[in-house]
Amino acid sequence: MAIFTSASDWSRQPTDYSQVDRPSRILLAEPTYFQVEEAQNAHMTAGDGSLQAVNQETAQLQWKAVKTAWQNAGFEVEALEGSPGLADLCFTANPTLILPLPGGGREGWRARMFWESRRPEADIHEAFFETKGIPIHSLPESAGYFEGGGDGLPHPGRQLLHGGFGNRTEFSAWEALAAARPDWDMLIYQQPNKNFYHLDTALAPLNEDTALFVPEAFDDDGLGLIHAAFPNAIPLCLEEAMNFAGNACCHDGKHVILQAGSPQTEANLQEHGFTPVPVETREFLKSGGSVRCLVQGF
Ligand code: ARG
Repeated sequence: MAIFTSASDWSRQPTDYSQVDRPSRILLAEPTYFQVEEAQNAHMTAGDGSLQAVNQETAQLQWKAVKTAWQNAGFEVEALEGSPGLADLCFTANPTLILPLPGGGREGWRARMFWESRRPEADIHEAFFETKGIPIHSLPESAGYFEGGGDGLPHPGRQLLHGGFGNRTEFSAWEALAAARPDWDMLIYQQPNKNFYHLDTALAPLNEDTALFVPEAFDDDGLGLIHAAFPNAIPLCLEEAMNFAGNACCHDGKHVILQAGSPQTEANLQEHGFTPVPVETREFLKSGGSVRCLVQGF
């Protein structure tokens, strides 16, 4: 994998890369033990600095609605059981990064989470993907922190990866992945804005040409890469970005599942031919996560 950090170095376009399958299956995890227990990101504290209070019952209902939305969109959905002590297990985007391979099949890369409390989640993912025949590899220890699919977003349908660094995942992790996977190219984005601490809070690839993105979450190099990779990049207004509209998820090029309450984003999606599927994930927003954080496509 070669790493590109600015559009002036990247002379290719997505259609130059091999085609890969998009995910047809979705991994969720039951939010049985979901809680806000430590301030892992800027969203987890209220104005007075205290931890956000989660309503467990509401969280369960919201999660079920997310599950139904994926099923209604035609995806096969699997759900891990909750595990005591793992309050963030429901955010299945993070413990692994699943890469689709040219010619079919998938492989995964194990996260090394920044927060110690989340590190055991990777074992659960590894065991799950083993039952699916998807091998999970590990980066060397020297790679540093790596937060899987929270910071790594495959370009829809192409053997090209978008990667974020600066909050959780370290640049060295992408270098290590590049060394392990020389056949993949990667566009890498620095993330200077603490509100958009994972790449998936700021960039949502929808199809080969289109993505939602949060302009305030990137520097000039990052914005240049987004426009080079997605000719139809759709900017989000800050208000809807703070409502996690950028944490939308689309795996079929049609249905865009996203946090409810972002009318401008929904209208833009419709104009571009997508079907917005708004779901309420407000309890999970208190932990800094929404639709995309709650799923791992494979
Ligand atoms: N509380 C979790 C954390 O900070 C939220 C994870 C959200 N996941 C995501 N892919 N953005 O780690």
